[in-house]
Amino acid sequence: MSTKSVIKPLTQRQAWKSLGAHHKKISKLHLRELFAADKQRGEKMTAEAAGLFLDYSKNRITAETLKLLLQLAKESGLRGRMDAMFRGDKINFTENRAVLHTALRAPRNAKIFVDGKNVVPDVHAVLDKLTAFAKRIRSGAWKGHTGKRIKSIVNIGIGGSDLGPVMDYEALKHYAKRDMKFVFVSNVDGADFVEAVHDLDPAETLFIVSSKTFTTQETMTNAESARDWLLKGLGGNKNAVAKHFVAVSTNAEKVSAFGIDTANMFGFWDWVGGRYSMDSAIGLSTMLAIGPENYLAMLAGFHELDEHFRTAPFEKNLPVLMALLSVWNTNFLGAETIAVLPYENYLKRFPAYLQQLTMESNGKHVTLAGTKVNYETSPIYWGEPGTNGQHSFYQLIHQGTRLIPCDFIAFAKALTPLGRHHDILLANVFAQSEALAFGKTAAEVRAENVPAALVPHKVFEGNRPSNTILADKLTPAVLGKLVALYEHIVFVQGAIWSVNPFDQWGVELGKALAQRIVPELENKTLPPLKHDSSTNNLIRRYRKMKSRA
Ligand code: F6P
Repeated sequence: MSTKSVIKPLTQRQAWKSLGAHHKKISKLHLRELFAADKQRGEKMTAEAAGLFLDYSKNRITAETLKLLLQLAKESGLRGRMDAMFRGDKINFTENRAVLHTALRAPRNAKIFVDGKNVVPDVHAVLDKLTAFAKRIRSGAWKGHTGKRIKSIVNIGIGGSDLGPVMDYEALKHYAKRDMKFVFVSNVDGADFVEAVHDLDPAETLFIVSSKTFTTQETMTNAESARDWLLKGLGGNKNAVAKHFVAVSTNAEKVSAFGIDTANMFGFWDWVGGRYSMDSAIGLSTMLAIGPENYLAMLAGFHELDEHFRTAPFEKNLPVLMALLSVWNTNFLGAETIAVLPYENYLKRFPAYLQQLTMESNGKHVTLAGTKVNYETSPIYWGEPGTNGQHSFYQLIHQGTRLIPCDFIAFAKALTPLGRHHDILLANVFAQSEALAFGKTAAEVRAENVPAALVPHKVFEGNRPSNTILADKLTPAVLGKLVALYEHIVFVQGAIWSVNPFDQWGVELGKALAQRIVPELENKTLPPLKHDSSTNNLIRRYRKMKSRA
């Protein structure tokens, strides 16, 4: 990429140096002072796009901080990198792949080229195939081996082939077909599969084996157990597999070798990263649950946010702003994590989904040039839905020794209105960001006649940064926008940190070692062990323990 050569290493960029000096100047400023100095701060430091309202005023920044961060984005070649991604350049250079999850939600008439071929017609051909299949399953036209209609869907996958589908299903359950059951199996721990199928009737069950590579150990092990379970339940006739198994993959050869008819395979492409794939055919379980119309509305939501990201000036660009704030909090304020706290119970799996998206993407220690970074990269993303977290870990966020920037996500309307619940929920989310920012001084505590010895315990220092994202209500389109928002935040972070957010070599070593250890656990006679003394000892002990009655 031409942009790569002209971009200076991060710590040598002028804006980075200026941010360091600027941080020294303003590090003592409290949010109380910042708000007191500008009565309009809460209105000014906001941005809105595609129906998402972002209030970032409760960050420890001034107008100057923002100016420098925006300058940093420019000096990091962000615009060029964005153009390269949207254009289909092979920016995932360690795997020689384009990065085109944005093509998955491009309208039918769009043109996006990879190696000279417009990929949009292929995307829509798969979408049409998924739609036709979803209609057959949902209407009952598709029959199982014994002639019964399908009532239970089991998605077997892991990582991006699971986290997206699970999160999506939970998030959009309100829109789901309630006379069908959706379960998700990911872990190679047999308990996951056994519990998932516990109450299912094989004659009414459809397995979706979701795996980009169709080689992932966990998924293939679960898929084999699923095939055994099905055949056992249906009398052992192998023809049953075709009626009860479909695949989502890029690997037709392996799908066919497993025994799944490739006519029942839904494809995607190597330019879709696993953690960026929930809107590819990997979303089949979602489409089955919420129906093609809702699914297409979700894709339109993704696309709307893509267009915002692509075209909005950086100072009004939600992903750019949020990414720059995360860089400020991580690299200048020293925050190690970001808590994502949705005040919407349907988003309970959203933080787990984001963990893979953010940390598998930017959990990197070398730059695009292969040199070791001398600054922090991805913060740890984590979270739980509010208000549950408030009664658990919020204590640490309010009064602990660490700085935990928070992304609060809330909706003006409940999907399931119930008495006063929603106002109470929203009162809580607004209260949390207020308490984090402004805290409670010792003088305020004393004014409540608190005994002197207790005063320090009841002080809230405040000055803890947060963003609040407010949207109308959680629809399929809004979910698409939220996911696209974080996808692009990750992209911008990667550009600033000069890392490649699209490979994941760090997962390989453990996979390879596990492959080597499996026979050492299973073989009747113990092969000579060549690990370190700890691993050797654990293997021997396990073999002994498992053979005891
Ligand atoms: O182990 C990491 C990973 O490669 C993820 O990036 C991916 O989402 C997951 O495994 C599953 O891979 P597959 O879809 O090929 O089974």
